[in-house]
Amino acid sequence: MKAVIVNTDHSLTTQEVATPIPDQKEILIKVQCAGVNRADLMQRRGFYPPPPGASKILGLECAGTVESVGSSCKRYQVGDTVCALLSGGGYSEYVTVDEGSVLPIPAGFSFEEAASLPEVFATAWLNLFDEGALKKKSTVLIHAGASGVGTAAIQLCRAFDSRACVTVGSQFKLKKCLELGAVDGSVRTAPDFWDRLESFTSSSGYDVILDPVGGAYLEKNLSLLNPKGRLIIIGLMSGSKANVNLSQLLMKRIRIIGSTLRNRSLSRKASLMNRLEKEVWPRFVSGELVPVVEAIYSFSQAQEAHQLMESNETVGKIILSKET
Ligand SMILES: NC(=O)c1ccc[n+]([C@@H]2O[C@H](COP(=O)([O-])OP(=O)(O)OC[C@H]3O[C@@H](n4cnc5c(N)ncnc54)[C@H](OP(=O)(O)O)[C@@H]3O)[C@@H](O)[C@H]2O)c1
Repeated sequence: MKAVIVNTDHSLTTQEVATPIPDQKEILIKVQCAGVNRADLMQRRGFYPPPPGASKILGLECAGTVESVGSSCKRYQVGDTVCALLSGGGYSEYVTVDEGSVLPIPAGFSFEEAASLPEVFATAWLNLFDEGALKKKSTVLIHAGASGVGTAAIQLCRAFDSRACVTVGSQFKLKKCLELGAVDGSVRTAPDFWDRLESFTSSSGYDVILDPVGGAYLEKNLSLLNPKGRLIIIGLMSGSKANVNLSQLLMKRIRIIGSTLRNRSLSRKASLMNRLEKEVWPRFVSGELVPVVEAIYSFSQAQEAHQLMESNETVGKIILSKET
């Protein structure tokens, strides 16, 4: 089969590789589309190796058609159209995946739209509700609100009756986040960036902060949380080091939680996908939640797709699609 391969100079090319063989609990998907994620950029640069046993090929989510099923698989049949959360391997013609990480494509969705859902909605759900213990009527701060994960998190907050404030890189992105359901936001280059985030809660603080930025934001995040607030760190885009006064942590009984989705167990991923199917998938069908796709490239243009993501100009997802 053909797959997008990372060369030693970190460039991407399409090459012929062996087609994976599903084990008894796995499904072989003929990939039509794959989502591009920030993690792919890091893996390409050698900073985010796949977990043990995972495909070394890039790609954490896909949509396509079931090509074959392992002997213990119960749910899917050859020819079903599905999307899947992957530990790797999405940038290829075929990928194997545990049956529990696979969901049907929401009714009426294209392959491109379906491929934009698994990684960001699973990440947003896991970290807002499971790690962040988000309750109705909460106030949430979502950093990088226009990112793939951010656009999913904003919509989940709105759908589940919480107020989301975002941070973004431009007024254009802020407008897009407000259209998706954010209640307010702040542009990270503005001189009053942090003041605006503080005034949004009338200085009472946020219940949950979803943060992919890391080091540079840690101290300010602690000061913006309310007593018993939760800071969920899901990325380190500004770096992993921080110099922080821990007194707020004690006085406000704050919890700081670090979280990655990719290296969770298959059973944990299956229970997460199950929750998404029950709580989130019907809201796609009703139109309450929408896929946010910024751009679609062919697999042979994967390098250009990565360059677009690196530009920090995107709102939502970039998708790779098979040439027809
Ligand atoms: N832990 C997990 O399980 C998990 C899973 C998925 C994703 N993630 C993380 O979530 C983040 C978003 O991923 P994605 O694929 O949705 O990304 P994305 O769509 O590429 O969006 C990333 C955005 O982050 C902002 N940004 C970039 N560098 C920044 C910096 N130094 N400081 C502040 N903001 C910065 C930029 O938006 P603005 O210019 O508008 O700020 C950029 O467009 C990444 O850090 C990723 O690693 C974590």
